[in-house]
Amino acid sequence: MNMSHTDTVGVLLDQKTFKGIPSNRTGNERLSLYNKAAKQLKLKLFYMSLPHIGKKSALGFVFAKNMYRLKRQPIPNVMHNRAITLSPNLKRKLKQLSQSSTVFNRQNRYDKYRIYKLIYQNANLRQYLPISMKYSKEQLLLAMNKYSSLFIKPTNNSVGNGILKLSKHESGKWLLYWKKGNPKLLTGNKAVIIIARHVGTQTYMIQEAIPLATYNGRPYDLRVSVQRGETGRWQVTGMIGKVAASGRHVTNVAKGGKVKRTEELFKLNGLDPERMKEAIREAALSIMHDLSGKLPNLADVGLDIGIDHQGRIKFIEMNGRDQRYTFKKAKMNKTFYRTYETPLQYAKYLLNQSSS
Ligand SMILES: Nc1ncnc2c1ncn2[C@@H]1O[C@H](COP(=O)(O)OP(=O)(O)OP(=O)(O)O)[C@@H](O)[C@H]1O
Ligand SMILES: [Mg+2]
Repeated sequence: MNMSHTDTVGVLLDQKTFKGIPSNRTGNERLSLYNKAAKQLKLKLFYMSLPHIGKKSALGFVFAKNMYRLKRQPIPNVMHNRAITLSPNLKRKLKQLSQSSTVFNRQNRYDKYRIYKLIYQNANLRQYLPISMKYSKEQLLLAMNKYSSLFIKPTNNSVGNGILKLSKHESGKWLLYWKKGNPKLLTGNKAVIIIARHVGTQTYMIQEAIPLATYNGRPYDLRVSVQRGETGRWQVTGMIGKVAASGRHVTNVAKGGKVKRTEELFKLNGLDPERMKEAIREAALSIMHDLSGKLPNLADVGLDIGIDHQGRIKFIEMNGRDQRYTFKKAKMNKTFYRTYETPLQYAKYLLNQSSS
């Protein structure tokens, strides 16, 4: 362990974000919020990117006196991973790095079906899971016999792309929701053929559709930020509603979804906001307590949580690199800031652990 840098925390960024630091073009990463939190917590930040990390030291950015400076420094003992690493070469590097340092959220992309199965192992958590199965043509036919509405979605991250919804129509045919525009009315057979063609060789899962609560007739779900903080324990940092664009079956903000405060949404649905939020908090924490026992190093996630017409809570997915900007969009500036501050509080906790 390197004892001279016990107050430095590494923040691992995508190459593109890293390169944008001098010109303040860091996309969805608000480095100013990390800087502010670091100041409060008396931490020094070292912004890094995998290609610039060597065996013992790295070339990265430090922020001081209101400006960034490129500097070579020893590799910090604790790092917060905010990069999506796909190339095998860099993945290997990340793995190596986490042998000598603690890199939390090192893995931040998980297969959706794998996460479903991990949660399903815990009988107490099954109540939160919409029935899901791995996609195959045969499974799809079985599911169509059993459920009147289904989602068919890629098991890797898609930001709302490629997600299909299939719903039984009163005529006995099926409505296939796809991209923008009206759904297509198809016979069951035709729908199966089109879906199979769409899926091709990609890995997809089939999931019973949650009858999501609606706002002005449009379904909504919630983004719930769940993070480890200053005591190492999981906490819910914030939650916010995402309302699907008119006629859409996905609520992703990248797909025209609009952010709305949960209080407003719950009240309109006749749900008690405080009780609802408490129940969601409890569900989110139970899920993360369970998952973090199975997936070590997780410390910062964004859960998509649905509420059905009865106010029941349903888990949709876990994002390992929460973009957080939904809070910004909703003008929840304090919560937005806290989503940046909390991981640094956790990093400080880890630094103290490793030095004592
Ligand atoms: N089973 C379901 N029932 C109802 N709505 C669903 C269901 N699955 C997905 N959706 C809707 O589609 C949206 C996108 O699905 P999901 O969050 O699983 O994937 P994604 O956001 O595209 O993935 P990623 O964030 O990993 O890129 C959800 O926010 C929700 O609005
Ligand atoms: Mg999502």
